[in-house]
Amino acid sequence: MNILGISAHYHDSAAALLVDGLPLASVQEERLSRRKNDAAFPMAAIEWCLDHAGLELDALDAVVFYERPMLKFDRVLSCLLRSFPHSRHAFARAMKNLLGEKLWMRGIIASELGVPGSKIFFTEHHQAHAAAAFLTAPTERAAILTADGVGEWATLTIGHGAREKGGGTTINLGREIRFPHSLGMLYAAFTAYLGFAVNEGEYKVMGLAAYGQPSMVDKVWRTVRRTPDGAFALDLDYFEFQSTAARSYSQRFVDLFGPPRSPYDPIDFETEDGRRFADIAASVQHVLEDLLVDIARSLHEETGLSDLCLGGGVALNGVANTRILQASGFERVFVPPAPGDAGCALGAALYADRICFGNSDRAFPDHPFWGPSIAPDDLVRLADEDGLATDYVDDGELIEMTADDLAAGQIVGWMDGALELGPRALGHRSILAAPHSAAIRDRLNRDIKYREEFRPFAPVVPAEEAGRFFELPRGEDRLARFMSGVFPVREEWREQLAGVTHVDGTARVQALSKEMAPRLYALLEAYGRRTGVPVLLNTSFNLAGEPIVNNVVEGYSTFRRSGIDILIAGQNRLARSRKRREHIRQEQSA
Ligand SMILES: [Fe+2]
Repeated sequence: MNILGISAHYHDSAAALLVDGLPLASVQEERLSRRKNDAAFPMAAIEWCLDHAGLELDALDAVVFYERPMLKFDRVLSCLLRSFPHSRHAFARAMKNLLGEKLWMRGIIASELGVPGSKIFFTEHHQAHAAAAFLTAPTERAAILTADGVGEWATLTIGHGAREKGGGTTINLGREIRFPHSLGMLYAAFTAYLGFAVNEGEYKVMGLAAYGQPSMVDKVWRTVRRTPDGAFALDLDYFEFQSTAARSYSQRFVDLFGPPRSPYDPIDFETEDGRRFADIAASVQHVLEDLLVDIARSLHEETGLSDLCLGGGVALNGVANTRILQASGFERVFVPPAPGDAGCALGAALYADRICFGNSDRAFPDHPFWGPSIAPDDLVRLADEDGLATDYVDDGELIEMTADDLAAGQIVGWMDGALELGPRALGHRSILAAPHSAAIRDRLNRDIKYREEFRPFAPVVPAEEAGRFFELPRGEDRLARFMSGVFPVREEWREQLAGVTHVDGTARVQALSKEMAPRLYALLEAYGRRTGVPVLLNTSFNLAGEPIVNNVVEGYSTFRRSGIDILIAGQNRLARSRKRREHIRQEQSA
């Protein structure tokens, strides 16, 4: 059975193809269109998935969309009418949006793809999140918690799932919290208040939190409260997202926390405002964690299960995930590589396959590499056109050379095999560097990633060695597999890992297992033989504001436009000449 899953029209569209219950391909539209967080109907992603599988559109048995448009329409309409006439501008915009695209999804899919309406299905948004979390995890029974901004009505669901190898699958999301009460919206309101882009800047709030003290938790608790049934409710006087798209927090919110940060002002921790913003970030992070831990703890008590699968955009908050692992009673916490809406394409297809069509369970391959593969020879051609020489190097030698380069302080663009699904570079599209030096970290921030200095870089380490350098709680391996947790760097290693240690002494570690990315694993070992520390700084291969590179052309263009010293595509190696490197540095320091 060939099932195509689609997520679209909110942010981060994606497509996924399931053939006889197993994933064959999945990619985010932004990686192909090169528009970051592209929310358009993912035509390019769909075409690539089908091409990759050698299937024509008429070979599809089902096309599954990741939410129910009518339910979403119901929610938007209800909320806007409730706050009319205050919401009249938002009303006009939302009607245009919904009537133009979202509501008529079946018709749009049918006409875009030329498939009959009878083959088009819908899952609920949080069913797709839950399936993406549970059905991709190597566990047969688990509690499930999904949390995001909002889908149709649900913003958080809890329940449990069971699957039997070769047998049936159940996902039971027994309870939900509904819009406008939403952890994602709460965090998003603070993200906007702190001057960052919503749906993108949440990472920055988490990074900023480490610089502050949670001295304003009392104030944050005025905007949200626990309810007697174990859930939570926002005090809507502090928010406006429920009635307008123009602003997510209200004047009362500003009266409580002070003037918001302008997105154009740098954050300076020497100033009172800089410290206030960091303290606010720390406070909302703290409250988010407390609420999630409470909900997860009662879910653990209720289900008695040892595994928890987390889905939804809130599961990208690695600090909160680690606290859930430590404090909720679950022994293992699973977060997929793409817990957000992009992963819902895969989740919707899996949900339809196992639950709607009742197909037997299949073990899901335990890696994130479902996108297009690189064509390494493209690098030779592109470099040649620019008069640059590449080297084709035997794999063993290439690993050793690259380890030498990294140990000498060079920054390496690393492209290998198929593209990752989800926002994180997990070994195939990475910028790598030595982890010991704060100077290299600052150079990366300044010359390559062009981003705020308070944002930390992450380390990658062989899974077997992770405990030597990082304080890992019991059951951490699943969180560290896809960089979904944040853990303390051991005191004695902090100096040697200064480039990847955040200001609060933590790191968002990827503990790499050999079978997942064997070439990067070999590189870590080779680097460890030289330095005694088999750890590298690993950041996604992209410049600020651009999606992660997909093919070699994009990798090469990024290399030419940035301060990356060496570019590796498969077994091809391109080094920037020393002269050119010096020239770039002089230009940048001028
Ligand atoms: Fe979502």
